[in-house]
Amino acid sequence: MELFTQKLKRSLQEMYDRACSCNNGLLSQVAVDRGVGLLEKLGYALDLLAILPPESDGLAFPCANPLPRIISLAPQSILDLGCGMALDAFFCARSLPCLERLTGLDASPKLLAKGKDLLFNFPAEARKITLLAGDLNSLSCDPTNPCLFQPFELILMNGSFNLVYAKKKFFAELRPLLTQNGTLLIYDFILTESLPPGFADEVDNWLWNIAGALDAIALEKVVTAAGLALLEINELERIDPVARCEIIIKKKNGVGKAGLNGWHQS
Ligand SMILES: C[S@@+](CC[C@H](N)C(=O)[O-])C[C@H]1O[C@@H](n2cnc3c(N)ncnc32)[C@H](O)[C@@H]1O
Repeated sequence: MELFTQKLKRSLQEMYDRACSCNNGLLSQVAVDRGVGLLEKLGYALDLLAILPPESDGLAFPCANPLPRIISLAPQSILDLGCGMALDAFFCARSLPCLERLTGLDASPKLLAKGKDLLFNFPAEARKITLLAGDLNSLSCDPTNPCLFQPFELILMNGSFNLVYAKKKFFAELRPLLTQNGTLLIYDFILTESLPPGFADEVDNWLWNIAGALDAIALEKVVTAAGLALLEINELERIDPVARCEIIIKKKNGVGKAGLNGWHQS
């Protein structure tokens, strides 16, 4: 019988691959925003959106606009885990003069192919960006994966963290990928209430980032166990039983003070 984790992985890949080949997308029957309307609503800069080739924004599935935070951190190297069709990767390369290299990793070959098509139009930005197929659930399994050899100043996860099944293993594998003092920047949902018993046993409940959500205390525990420090949880929008949040995690010498007091509402 197919294991739950294998079924989850296959379902997620099929869902995002399928989104690339349907005109109105697999989401046409689901009440979620997408495309340029979503990006505008999340506050992506209009001048960046204006330079995108027609319809290249239709496969954007971000949780938030990470650009203001990333620009303030000014990293020279970025790893975008769950990069989708590489819109954030492209925007970072376009907006950060200091950026030297950015690696985007995703499980959907079709989204990655769309990302490569997008970058074909922007050779200056494309030179800094590498797109890789990979699995967030086994970051350290592939010895040929260049991610393993050069740590990054910033790791971004815009809408992909709650799709990771085994968070403890994930953080342990992610830690070596961050430089000393490096930052992990997550945009995803945090639980504000308990989910019904058995909710996380259904693969479908994982697909939209809810079943894999942690509450702030569980997140702090798993982050700290990996030798990382949870600095801030900034609430962007409350939609009980979850809140859409920006989560800032640092790699530090020793374990920093956890950031539950830093749960800010904006
Ligand atoms: C909500 S989308 C966010 C995509 C992108 N960050 C954006 O803002 O458009 C989640 C992404 O995570 C990817 N993903 C899901 N499970 C994954 C896994 N196990 N390994 C790698 N990528 C995964 C999906 O293919 C999808 O591109």
